[in-house]
Amino acid sequence: MSSWSGPLTLLLSSALLLLLTSSSHSAAALKAPHLLGRHRVTRSLPQQRPVSYTTLYLDQQIDHFGFLENGTFKQRYLLNDLHWHKDNSPILFYTGNEGDITWFCNNTGFMWDIAEELGAMLVFAEHRYYGESLPFGDESYSNAKYLNYLTSEQALADFAVLIENLKKTYPGAQNSPVIAIGGSYGGMLSAWLRMKYPSAVVGALAASAPIWQFTDMVPCGDFYKIVTQDFAISGFNCSNNIRRSWMAINNVSSTDEGLQWLSEEFRLCSPLKEEDVSGFKGWLQETWVNLAMVDYPYEANFLQPLPRWPIKVVCSYLSFVTDVPDKELLHGISQAVNVYYNYTGNAECLNISLTATGNLGIRGWFYQSCTEMVMPMCTDGIQDMFEPQPWNFQAFSDECYDLFGVRPREHWADTVYGGKNICSHSNIIFSNGRLDPWMSGGVTRLCGVSDSLVAIVIPDGAHHLDLRYNNEYDPETVIRARAVEVQYFKKWIKQSTNTR
Ligand SMILES: *[C@@H]1O[C@H](CO)[C@@H](O)[C@H](O)[C@H]1NC(C)=O
Ligand SMILES: *[C@@H]1O[C@H](CO)[C@@H](O)[C@H](O)[C@H]1NC(C)=O
Ligand SMILES: *[C@@H]1O[C@H](CO)[C@@H](O)[C@H](O)[C@H]1NC(C)=O
Ligand SMILES: *[C@@H]1O[C@H](CO)[C@@H](O)[C@H](O)[C@H]1NC(C)=O
Ligand SMILES: *[C@@H]1O[C@H](CO)[C@@H](O)[C@H](O)[C@H]1NC(C)=O
Ligand SMILES: *[C@@H]1O[C@H](CO)[C@@H](O)[C@H](O)[C@H]1NC(C)=O
Repeated sequence: MSSWSGPLTLLLSSALLLLLTSSSHSAAALKAPHLLGRHRVTRSLPQQRPVSYTTLYLDQQIDHFGFLENGTFKQRYLLNDLHWHKDNSPILFYTGNEGDITWFCNNTGFMWDIAEELGAMLVFAEHRYYGESLPFGDESYSNAKYLNYLTSEQALADFAVLIENLKKTYPGAQNSPVIAIGGSYGGMLSAWLRMKYPSAVVGALAASAPIWQFTDMVPCGDFYKIVTQDFAISGFNCSNNIRRSWMAINNVSSTDEGLQWLSEEFRLCSPLKEEDVSGFKGWLQETWVNLAMVDYPYEANFLQPLPRWPIKVVCSYLSFVTDVPDKELLHGISQAVNVYYNYTGNAECLNISLTATGNLGIRGWFYQSCTEMVMPMCTDGIQDMFEPQPWNFQAFSDECYDLFGVRPREHWADTVYGGKNICSHSNIIFSNGRLDPWMSGGVTRLCGVSDSLVAIVIPDGAHHLDLRYNNEYDPETVIRARAVEVQYFKKWIKQSTNTR
């Protein structure tokens, strides 16, 4: 794991859409609801609402685009037709992203909430190389040759083939209009599915989908500016104190006594050594980023179990004057970090190689960002609260080569998906939350008159809040966003019925 902890790793890990965790192990046992000192859990953590589905598998070509590799693998997908009316009623199709599809299925309550109203079948398709959909079984990640078929283009082809197959084989679905839905990287895939396979889906909802987070499309510093903004508005001096904390860590960690103090203050699972300090700072940085993504208005358990508006709670430990002594500042930081890692009160110690749920396929995403999903990130320590770190493509490329034996193609995503030039496409909704750092690469403004490309900004929304189950604490703005989304779904469905 230590190879991930250089400064570059920060940039690399920030390229992760959903998750910045660095391991597939689940984070320190934080399952059972539990009362915890200062932040009282007034209700138990919301129960996962029960979802029911059939698990199915489809044989897919390992390589859709060449003829030498003729092997196949089983792609997993989940299907629910409880509310489906047959007779070409619609299908809502989740374009799976970098993780276990059952986890996305559980966390995309919006689809479950609207299935009845639309009389829709729900399908959740797993992305190849994640969850159970492994082209070369347990060996899938063992070498560059096997990893070679892990691309967004192959994944989109899987989705198109699966949709075609459903329509052919599912009685009553032959002419069903299919709507692609996805969040984060999954949202990028739903937009791209509509762009590349317009006959497969009548429209797409791309929620918090940073399709412009690529080279030369948006400033590399925007992402961390949004993270910083979220903290700046959530408590007095909150972002200022985090900005100062890096130097305080440098100061304190310069002695053995200080390293020991830090290990004890943060209750780290293993004592911090001098060479772990940059990894420690990277772990904190990821923690702040993750909090920005999941700053939801109610208690939730997406990356970690968290209180409502978790950044406000974090900042309640950091709203002091900015000239306190180093250790006092770092005591505030350790309390703040505990909100993220120990909300349930069950964490025995904190492991600086873990930042979030184990349901995401971190290694797979690293590979994807080392090939075609190159997302430049940088910080300057002035407009953001992080240590200055310029974007350095060459260094990034070298790290990728060391890890996977491949080098990224910096401009390929632009070439293959059209970059900012998407005006000729139709029937895509791009939704973004203003609190979500990934809005930096999202589509928030569109090309003039087209009313079939839609951009929705949700002021109080974090990472794809609109895709979550409705909740009594939902801000008005997300309720309205969902209503607009459903209106467009109905319009697309109607259009497709009329033109059949
Ligand atoms: C796959 O390729 C191998 C080697 O060329 C060939 O022997 C085999 O018949 C092919 N299998 C299929 C299903 O096409
Ligand atoms: C999804 O929810 C079901 C209960 O509906 C649960 O059994 C399962 O463990 C959940 N899966 C994940 C990956 O969270
Ligand atoms: C770190 O040490 C320097 C030099 O002793 C001191 O000026 C500074 O206040 C300390 N703390 C921070 C957060 O910069
Ligand atoms: C921390 O997590 C890593 C990755 O899952 C694991 O290998 C390591 O054993 C853990 N360390 C401790 C002290 O629990
Ligand atoms: C923030 O820190 C500055 C500098 O130490 C201090 O003057 C100010 O009072 C602090 N603000 C609050 C609200 O505590
Ligand atoms: C987590 O919270 C519990 C309850 O407050 C506390 O006993 C425990 O020490 C905390 N764990 C860590 C790692 O701080």
